[in-house]
Formats: sequence, structure tokens, C-alpha cells
Amino acid sequence: MKRLTLSITIAIMAAFPGSVSAAGDAGAGQQKAQVCAACHGLDGNSTGKDFPSLAGQVPGFIAQQLAKFKSGERVSALMVGMVQLLSAADMADLDAWYASQTPAPRAIGEAQLETALVGQELFRGGAKQYAVPACMACHGPDGHGVPVNYPRVAGQWPEYLESQLLAFKSGERADPVMGPIAFRLSATQIRAVALYMSGLQ
Ligand code: HEC
Ligand code: HEC
Repeated sequence: MKRLTLSITIAIMAAFPGSVSAAGDAGAGQQKAQVCAACHGLDGNSTGKDFPSLAGQVPGFIAQQLAKFKSGERVSALMVGMVQLLSAADMADLDAWYASQTPAPRAIGEAQLETALVGQELFRGGAKQYAVPACMACHGPDGHGVPVNYPRVAGQWPEYLESQLLAFKSGERADPVMGPIAFRLSATQIRAVALYMSGLQ
């Protein structure tokens, strides 16, 4: 009897491989990501500056943000409709798919190098007199992020990074960690550090 139960369990596990693991299935995620491609690109390298790239994001961060859009903790007029029908398993699959994709590098134009250097100083050293910590302490020395909570910022659209820092600063995107940090940055510093991060590879 015990043997029969065991073989039935194995058969079920083989039929539904995704259901036995908390980690997502990238192949299933690719299918589910078709509705996302118009904005976030087929491979997670997005189609324009208004849409964040998702390729190569740290595992776990995308699922976490999708859950925040669904609960209303993070507000976006475009994303709220996209997440209503997603289950936790769907979110894990989408997460696994985008995390497995390769982010396209982004170059910083020569005319912007001076601004990027100001951003580099902030990213690597923070601003002690304003109690701003170095961004790389959490986002990594190359901006590749640290799973699960600290997102990759390298290679992201500078306009998106800037808009999110301004949203953290105003409280529109409420976050207990990034809120106080962005609050102490000027709009000029935000623009500079966003530019620098976008050029990291
Ligand atoms: C109509 C365009 C559109 C579609 C389709 C769309 N998104 Fe988005 N998505 C956006 C925009 C705009 C944002 C930025 C929201 C903000 O400013 O907070 C975003 C943000 C995100 C973020 C947060 C990224 C980050 O770095 O914080 C994730 C994750 C995400 N989308 C996943 C998805 C997934 C998965 C789908 C498909 C199920 C999808 N999106 C479909 C427009 C779209
Ligand atoms: C103590 C850790 C910590 C430090 C230091 C830190 N961050 Fe963050 N950052 C986070 C966390 C956590 C999030 C995710 C917030 C959320 O869940 O919405 C985040 C999110 C972000 C995002 C949004 C990315 C996205 O794709 O949605 C940007 C941009 C960002 N940080 C920039 C910076 C900059 C610039 C600095 C330095 C001035 C900095 N961070 C310092 C922890 C940190």
C-alpha cells in the first residue's frame, strides 16, 4: 500500500513539476510573458524609456513587485490591470523567465560623462554630510543587485530610474528603505546617479 501511495505521488509530481517547487518555471514564464512583451520587450529588454527593462533582474524581485502591484502597495495605472489575474505561481514563473534573460548594455554619451561622474561618486561613496549611504552597499558594486530585495539597476533606462527615485522622494512609491534615502537627494543628484547606474554593465 505504502509503495502504491509513493508511486502515485511520484506520478503526480512528474505531471505537475511546477507545483512541487516554490521557484518558478522559466519556460512557463515565457508563455505567460507574451502579454507583457508590448511594453517590457520579448526578452525583458523594454521597448522604450517609459517601461522598465526586466531582463536579468535579481531572482525574486519581480515576483515581489508584482505582488505589491496586486495588493495596491505599489501604484501604477498601467500595471494594476496586468496583475489582477496572476497567481503567486504565475508571478514566480514570470520572475524566473525575466531573471534568466540577458540585459542589453547601455552606453552613456560623451556629453553626459561629467554628470555621470557626479553620479558615480554618490553611487560608490554616498554623501556623508547628508547621511546618504552608498547605493552600492545594497545594489552591489556593479549595480547587479542582491536577491531577493535589492534590485538590479545596471543597464536600466535612466529616465525610469530617475522617475522612481522622484517617486520614492515624494512618497508616491512608498518604501521604508528608499524613501528616506531619496528624500535627502536633490533633483540634480537624482538625475546624475540615475544616469550613472544606467551605464553600469
Ligand atoms: C501597457 C504597458 C505594460 C504592460 C503590458 C506590462 N507592464 Fe509592467 N510596467 C509598465 C510600467 C509603465 C511600469 C512602471 C510602473 C511604475 O512607474 O511604477 C511597469 C513596471 C513593472 C515592474 C516593476 C519593475 C521594477 O523594476 O520595479 C514589473 C516587475 C512589471 N512591470 C512586470 C510586468 C509583467 C510580468 C507584465 C505582464 C504580465 C507587465 N509588466 C505588463 C507597463 C506595462
Ligand atoms: C539599505 C539598502 C539600500 C541602499 C543603501 C540603497 N537602496 Fe535603492 N533600493 C533598496 C530596496 C530595498 C529597493 C526596493 C524597494 C521596493 O521594494 O520597492 C530599492 C530600489 C531602488 C530603485 C528602484 C529600482 C526598480 O527597478 O524599481 C532605485 C532606482 C534605487 N533603489 C536607487 C538607489 C540609489 C540611487 C541609492 C543611493 C543613493 C540607493 N538606491 C541606495 C535598497 C537600498
